[in-house]
Order: sequence, then structure tokens, then C-alpha cells
Amino acid sequence: MVRIRRAGRMRAMLRFSCVLLLAACAQVPAPTGGASDASAATTDDLRAAYRRPPAEWPQPTIDAGVAFVELGRLPKAVFPADNPWSKEKEALGRALFFDGRLSGTQQMSCASCHDSVLGWADGRTTSFGHGAQALARNAPSILNAVHGVHFFWDGRAASLEDQALAVFENEKEMATSGTAVVEKLASSRGYRAMFASAFGDDEPTMARTLAAIATFERMQQSDGSSAFDRFVGGDAAALDDAQLRGLHLFRTKARCVNCHHGPAFTDHGFHDVGLSYYGRKFEDLGRYRVTKDPADVGRFKTPSLRNVARTGPYMHNGLFDLPGLVNMYSAGMAVLQPKPEQRDDPLFPKKSPLLHKLDLSQGEKGDLIAFLEALSDRRRRVMAPELPALGDR
Ligand code: HEC
Ligand code: HEC
Repeated sequence: MVRIRRAGRMRAMLRFSCVLLLAACAQVPAPTGGASDASAATTDDLRAAYRRPPAEWPQPTIDAGVAFVELGRLPKAVFPADNPWSKEKEALGRALFFDGRLSGTQQMSCASCHDSVLGWADGRTTSFGHGAQALARNAPSILNAVHGVHFFWDGRAASLEDQALAVFENEKEMATSGTAVVEKLASSRGYRAMFASAFGDDEPTMARTLAAIATFERMQQSDGSSAFDRFVGGDAAALDDAQLRGLHLFRTKARCVNCHHGPAFTDHGFHDVGLSYYGRKFEDLGRYRVTKDPADVGRFKTPSLRNVARTGPYMHNGLFDLPGLVNMYSAGMAVLQPKPEQRDDPLFPKKSPLLHKLDLSQGEKGDLIAFLEALSDRRRRVMAPELPALGDR
């Protein structure tokens, strides 16, 4: 029953998106690696231009007012002064991250929806919560969260510690309370020993629990093994021709770097790319829910694109695959038309002026996707550790 309702909901959402985007959904770009408009000679010129350090790459196509930061390798991660890294804290955080017994039903752990094999996301359109309740949004990856500034699609948490607290208390996610979690941990000899080595005494508190989970999350970082990172590091053969053309498109004609820039491929900002479903059944007002500023209606956090080929489906609502998404960007994304009664509505969302109609050829779309695939790190599987017994104290 639940499943049927979900399927109906998905079909309705997809149909609505396609109506909005008109022809965009119908076209599927050529498979990656297909010949693009750029001739072989142009690709050679590009190779010469991009062999230089990023600071000397061709001018990016960016609009006035965009605080552009060049793409590149990630800097060394910085841990907050009030929660520095330690091996013991990381080990405790890892156990907590994988421990389903901490949730209200004893069955849901952070790893249920953030799985290293699925790029630290869950591969679903929107996550499946407790009691088969669908969550409203798609699970983002926790990879490189150490470089993040705001958390959740609407940025409502300012740190990973705050973020984890919100999840424990969310009835569809961990469905529990700080008191219940601390009680369970305090009942465990094994956990008490882990708290003692991480914090100096064996008293589990919620603040320590959150600090440990955040430390584990901050250690999940890109390791410089992607084709893009190797290319920037001087391995000129790391990007094939399609990926190289894609890099150039990403920085120029396709205008992606207006928002996805810097080493993490995000401006850490919020933009309306036309997916708020304003005034419709699946409306999500995004950043507005946090700030109550009418300018923020329909704005969502610019996600990092590192490892993006592994974390589909995409966007806060999980409705798109990469080809569909590139088609939408090429069409300039959907423009919501106000209904007559919405003409004077101060909350009516305004699509970002940074989005233009791009008219990318099929080959160019394939090149862009090839470049996004060059952002994938070497595969890593992070396994659940052996968990301490509960209630043995
Ligand atoms: C039922 C699935 C589910 C569970 C369980 C879950 N999450 Fe999430 N997580 C999500 C979804 C969905 C979002 C996005 C929600 C939103 O933006 O409103 C999210 C967002 C996040 C983010 C923000 C990432 C970003 O870039 O904004 C982090 C970090 C995170 N979760 C960590 C955790 C931790 C730690 C736990 C365990 C304490 C956990 N999650 C448990 C589904 C889940
Ligand atoms: C105006 C700023 C802006 C521009 C320009 C832009 N993006 Fe985005 N991008 C965003 C935002 C904001 C989201 C999240 C939107 C949402 O969930 O509703 C996003 C989401 C994505 C996602 C989904 C990531 C995920 O984890 O779900 C991909 C892939 C992506 N963009 C690629 C691109 C490419 C390729 C281009 C250039 C053709 C581009 N973007 C141009 C702001 C932008």
C-alpha cells in the first residue's frame, strides 16, 4: 500500500517536472566519449592550455558579482578548535555511526542512509525512514563534510555536531532522544571504555556522542585519487579528451562554475534552480524555511560535485539522473509561471539569474558528464566495526 502510494507520488512528480521542462526530459545525450563539437585540433589546444597550473587556465565564464574561486585539489582539512581529531574519538564515532541499536526502533543507524558503497548516500530518490515513512528529501553524501559550511539542503545546521543532534531527534530518522541514547551508552562497559579513552572519563554525554560522530564524519575525505585531482597534480594523461573538453565546458560555456567552484565544487551558497514546486503538491521552500526571507524561497544549498557520479539520484528531491540533469541545465532550467492568483505573491520564487539557456550539443552534454565522472575517488568501503555489548554494566 505504502509502496503503491510512493510510486504514484513519484510518477506525479516526474510528470510535473517533464511538463515544466517541456522537451528537456525527452532528450538523452549521447553516451560519454562521443565526438563533441570541439575538433581534434581544439582538443590539442585545450590540452596545452590546461597543462598549465589552474591559476593560468583559460578565463572562466562568470557573471558579475560571483566570488569565483578556481577549481583544484582540496586543502588539508581543518578540525574545529573545540573538537580536535583524535584516533580514539574517531573510533568511537565510527561505532556510533554504525550502531542501529541507538535508534528508537533499534534498527536504523546513520549508515542505513549514508553508506560508503553508495558514495555515503543511500541510492534512493528520497530516504526511507522508520516505519517505512518516506523522507521528503534525498540523502546527501557525508564525504568532504569537513569542508562544509552549512548542513542539510536548506542549511539549517551550522555544524556536524548540530546536524547529528537534529537527526537523533527526528522521528523519521533516528526517532530517539538524547536522554535515551546516553542511557543506552551508559549501560555498556565497552562504550564506557571507549568514552574514557576518547574524553578522559567514562561518562557518555550527548555532547561527547555528537563530537565523536562528527569526528568520524570529518575523516571521510576525498583522497586525491580522482582523475581530476591527478590531472591537476601534473598527470597530463589523467583526463581523456572528453573529460578535458568537459572541464573546459564546465568552466566556460556551460557556466557551472558560477556556483560549483573552488576545490569542493561549491560556493557554499543557496540558489533557486527552479525545483521548488511552489504552490504545488510537492512544494519545498528550501532555505526560506530557515531564514523566512522571501528572497530565499526555493533556494537550496549548492552541493559539492566530488564523487557525484556515485551519489545518484540527484537534487534535493532525488528526481534526476545525470543525463536528465544536464538536459535541464542546457535548457536553462524550468521557469515557474505564476498562476493569476500568484501574480502579486511576494513569496513567488525567482529562479537564479546565473542560469542561462546553454544550448549544449549532444556531444557537449556527453563531455560534461564525462568530466563529472572524472571527479570520482578510488572506491573505498568503510565497514561497521565490532560493536560493544549494551546493558552489561
Ligand atoms: C532515514 C535516513 C537517514 C538516517 C538514518 C540518517 N540520515 Fe543523514 N540525512 C538524510 C537525509 C534525507 C538528509 C537531507 C535532509 C535535509 O536536507 O533536510 C540527511 C542529511 C545529512 C547530513 C548533511 C549533509 C550535507 O551536506 O548537508 C549529514 C552530515 C548527515 N545526514 C549525517 C547523518 C548522521 C550522523 C546520522 C546518524 C546520527 C544520519 N545522518 C542519519 C537521511 C538520513
Ligand atoms: C545558479 C547556481 C548553479 C549553477 C550555475 C549550476 N548549479 Fe548545479 N546545483 C546548484 C544547486 C543549488 C543545486 C541543488 C538544487 C536542488 O537540490 O534543488 C545543484 C545541484 C547539482 C547537481 C546534483 C548534485 C547532487 O548531489 O544531487 C549536479 C550534478 C549539478 N548541480 C551539476 C551542475 C552542472 C553540470 C552545472 C553546469 C551545467 C551546474 N550544476 C550549474 C547550483 C547551480
